[in-house]
Amino acid sequence: MSEVIWHDIECGSYRQDLALWLALADQYAGAGAPVLDVGAGTGRVSLALARAGHGVVALDQSRALLAELARRARGLPIETVCADARTFTLPGRHFPLIAVPMQTLQLLGGNEGQSAFLARARRHLQAGGAIAVAIVALEDLEEFEEFDGEQAGGLPLPDIAELDGCAYFSQPTAVRRQDGSVVLERLREVVDAHGARRSSVDRTRLDLTSPEQLAELAVNAGLRLREVRRIDPTDAHVGSEVVILQ
Ligand SMILES: C[S@@+](CC[C@H](N)C(=O)[O-])C[C@H]1O[C@@H](n2cnc3c(N)ncnc32)[C@H](O)[C@@H]1O
Repeated sequence: MSEVIWHDIECGSYRQDLALWLALADQYAGAGAPVLDVGAGTGRVSLALARAGHGVVALDQSRALLAELARRARGLPIETVCADARTFTLPGRHFPLIAVPMQTLQLLGGNEGQSAFLARARRHLQAGGAIAVAIVALEDLEEFEEFDGEQAGGLPLPDIAELDGCAYFSQPTAVRRQDGSVVLERLREVVDAHGARRSSVDRTRLDLTSPEQLAELAVNAGLRLREVRRIDPTDAHVGSEVVILQ
């Protein structure tokens, strides 16, 4: 359950990219075959696409997140698949749009993991379809480091939620570049109804890449770069480039 709560608190309120995923689904999938949403989580993007009338296959490696997605998707045209994006096989299925929102590609384990995903995606792509991958826009990436609870200019605001009498806080404390990757650090705190506090540190490592690097990897999977679109940063989220491969 806590996996679902933290996922929702830290990813759930992001909306800046939804218009782009909806536009790409209209462009490539129309009212036809479903969109494949890779790393779908609790369904932030899948649910938006399905509510707009698109069928969706929501793939994630987390059973807990997919179970919550399925609960929220009742009555909507969403199918869930629990699989690793680097090794998935859906026999006979070909998609007009394979979407990889919110930097999920950068969690797959560097060039090797990204290449494995691209090869899998290529096999499941409809003729004329597209693979669209959101990656961190490097020029928007600003490092910061908490120092005794402070940093110059103030820390970003925490993400906060209240559930079943417990308050959840997720405070970004650092963004650190390290050897071709960036580490996003958060302090997670839970305060229960009796005022007891629990805290832990969460670190997510993203492998840095660029549209050019991704286009190079894509060639080996028989894909080519079609275009790059941009998602502007928000107060809480870095900007993205969406690399569209065919
Ligand atoms: C940053 S979240 C994005 C969630 C959702 N797409 C969104 O935009 O709100 C990354 C998601 O990718 C999933 N994920 C990470 N590695 C994966 C892998 N190797 N195969 C499948 N899913 C993976 C995680 O479980 C998580 O749900």
